Amino acid sequence: MWLLAINVGHNGATALYKDSELIYYIEEDRLSRMKYDGNPYLGLEKAYDYTDKVDFLILCATNNQFSTVPWTGEDIYTCYVRKKQPGHKFETVKLGDEHHLTHAATAFYNSGFTDAAALVIDGAGSGFEFPDLEQLKFNSWEVESIWTFGYPAETTKHLVYYGTNSVDSFTLTDNDTIVEVSDAHGLTKSYEAVTQYLGFHPIEAGKTMGIAPYGKPNNTIKLHEGRFSNRTFIKPKFPAGNVLRCDMYPELQEHEGDISWHSDPDLIDDYRKDLAYAVQKSTEDRVKQLIRKTIELTGKKQIVMAGGYVLNCVANYELLKEFPDVEFYHEPVAHDGGNVMGACQYVYRKVSDDSTPNPTTSLYLGPDHSKEYADDIPEGFTSQDITAAEVAKLIAEQNIVCLYQGRSEAGPRALGNRSILFDPTVANGKDLVNEVKHREWFRPFAGSCLAESVHEWFDLAGRAESPSMMYAVDVVENKRDIIPAITHVDGTCRIQTVTKEQNPHYYDVISEFNKIKGVPILFNTSFNLAGDPLVETVAQAYDTLSRSEMKYLWLPEIGKLITKS
Ligand SMILES: [Fe+2]
Repeated sequence: MWLLAINVGHNGATALYKDSELIYYIEEDRLSRMKYDGNPYLGLEKAYDYTDKVDFLILCATNNQFSTVPWTGEDIYTCYVRKKQPGHKFETVKLGDEHHLTHAATAFYNSGFTDAAALVIDGAGSGFEFPDLEQLKFNSWEVESIWTFGYPAETTKHLVYYGTNSVDSFTLTDNDTIVEVSDAHGLTKSYEAVTQYLGFHPIEAGKTMGIAPYGKPNNTIKLHEGRFSNRTFIKPKFPAGNVLRCDMYPELQEHEGDISWHSDPDLIDDYRKDLAYAVQKSTEDRVKQLIRKTIELTGKKQIVMAGGYVLNCVANYELLKEFPDVEFYHEPVAHDGGNVMGACQYVYRKVSDDSTPNPTTSLYLGPDHSKEYADDIPEGFTSQDITAAEVAKLIAEQNIVCLYQGRSEAGPRALGNRSILFDPTVANGKDLVNEVKHREWFRPFAGSCLAESVHEWFDLAGRAESPSMMYAVDVVENKRDIIPAITHVDGTCRIQTVTKEQNPHYYDVISEFNKIKGVPILFNTSFNLAGDPLVETVAQAYDTLSRSEMKYLWLPEIGKLITKS
């Protein structure tokens, strides 16, 4: 059975499965080069490199809002698939009314747990459907929800919080699900509002997370009241655009309703730093409440989490520390793009009754580009043979080396297949690489550490390893000065553990660097320039070098170092 799912929205994405086996996953912007590209035509087209037919086309788009084609009235994706496989019958399944279910399913089926509680923490999901309240469907949205999941596709929805702009708050029970609809827009929208106030795109939460440790407690900022309702500092708006609640703050009143007056990312003054600090801390508190609620409603201590907020690796680490007896799975592709994986698995399990878990154990899930390695090196570049030891020496001599190999990483983290590598011991390394990548000064960098050495350098709060880089963990205190380039101002670092089995070339170069410097860690940042999606093809790798000051490209699969002349 071939299943093809697409997500239409700010993280356009495609996944192709053969039964429970993932064939590829790709975010559309990697192929189209337009960040957050929403219509996954290119990703969908890729499916026909692997199969000449699909049996299920699964559409994930909030509230199933698709363009239709003239004459037949089909949605455009169904029309395309029908024409690609003439005569082969397939079924289109629309899961747009089940946005949170697909988030939860992704985390559950990827986790390897056989049954678990699922907590979804999200910006804005599907609308609420209730017979007497039809007007709510397009003016309400899921923000947080609590589930249990089991095989093959057993789900119980225990509780859903909806945000709305239009009605008074009410709570009801609908088929044993507690439904709460109110003007509380949830912690993710609140985070978006602050992010936008700081001058960034609302979904660029990572930037706010990077600023937060520069702030301090400031009692003039009151973000947290109950579930982040409109009565608080923030007035999120649906579907996009968030404003601070100017009427509560006289000095802001002249800007009431204007969401763009503050959009100057260079203006990161103390007040904005405190605001970032406040939203990080207050949302962490709220997530802890939600975990307690999840345990209370489900009785389970295996909890999987997805939804955009789950990319907050600072909050994830706080949960590890706060709930040592809970076994967490934080979905690495927690944003909407990842929903295509859960959608395929959910439909497959429902149709087939197959109850054998088959979790994805690696995030190197992009389509295969191995045939695209050009024999000819583009003009302006030279090529030479090189070993991992020689690459490590280059890095130890404080050169930036770009690493391109294999299939690209799913989700926002570079994990050694599309990475820019540097020496973590360089005192001004953060500033230097931020400048080369054209990124903001405050943004920290991640590290990749040999798995067997990780506990000497980092406190993983009980975790054995961190292969997906989902936690910003404490750097062991007496090691912080040794790796200043990747130790953030609060003494943390977002860390990836690397084993030989997981990524042999990457493991080798870190091992060789360790032999030279006595540090089993490399500075690792995503292979792209600010504003660009992650590099997908080798041609894009060359293009990125040619548009930057970066000089070296390592292609370990063919043992070559490419140098920009
Ligand atoms: Fe979502």
